[in-house]
Amino acid sequence: MVKIHPSILCADHGNLAEDVKRLSGADFLHMDVMDGDFVPNFGLGTESITCVRNHSEVPLDVHLMIRNPARHIRYFRKLGAKIITVHPEADTHTAGTLALIRELGMTPGIALNPGTAVETVKEVLPLCDHVLAMTVNPGFAGQEFLEFTTGKLAALGELAQKYGFALCVDGNIDAGRVRQLRPLGVTNFVIGTALFRDGDPAGMIRKIKEENS
Ligand code: DX5
Ligand code: ZN
Repeated sequence: MVKIHPSILCADHGNLAEDVKRLSGADFLHMDVMDGDFVPNFGLGTESITCVRNHSEVPLDVHLMIRNPARHIRYFRKLGAKIITVHPEADTHTAGTLALIRELGMTPGIALNPGTAVETVKEVLPLCDHVLAMTVNPGFAGQEFLEFTTGKLAALGELAQKYGFALCVDGNIDAGRVRQLRPLGVTNFVIGTALFRDGDPAGMIRKIKEENS
């Protein structure tokens, strides 16, 4: 069964509490946190995370696109994170950060930018339960899917079997991409624009799950 992570960045922030209640069937809520430094955008402040936490029981998957994420792991735990994903390019001691996330009772995740090779994170894969393969450059929703990123997904799919992590993709995913990428071993899908565009996110989640069960 595939797992769906709606990207809250793409929700209606004027009606955030109502929008998160429409996401039945979601397995995790994907929260993009951006610092305007590691990526050229700001996003999802702690108020939004608290709002989502207060209006949904669905576990939070926090995608930290910030420099030196280790400083803030405890804080995001307090805000209710279940999965915390960090970018190795933004962190001096990624192995230590992943260990800290696990030590604090959360699920450690590593993100791979489109330009980051699998070899770069090979050493820390045994420390991860979640691998987030970016299919767009991180920073903005609604970007074009980068076709070349599918090249490394088959290799990651095999490593997912070996190490037992969940392989997740993030960036312009829709129902068609789920069908295309599921056979490569991708099990988890962050969906932003496509999910909120049609006005029936729960229906889309249900349909994707039926199609890929
Ligand atoms: C991009 C973010 C994504 C984004 C997904 O930096 O990490 O989570 O919100 O949105 P779509 O599906 O529109 O690419
Ligand atoms: Zn994300």
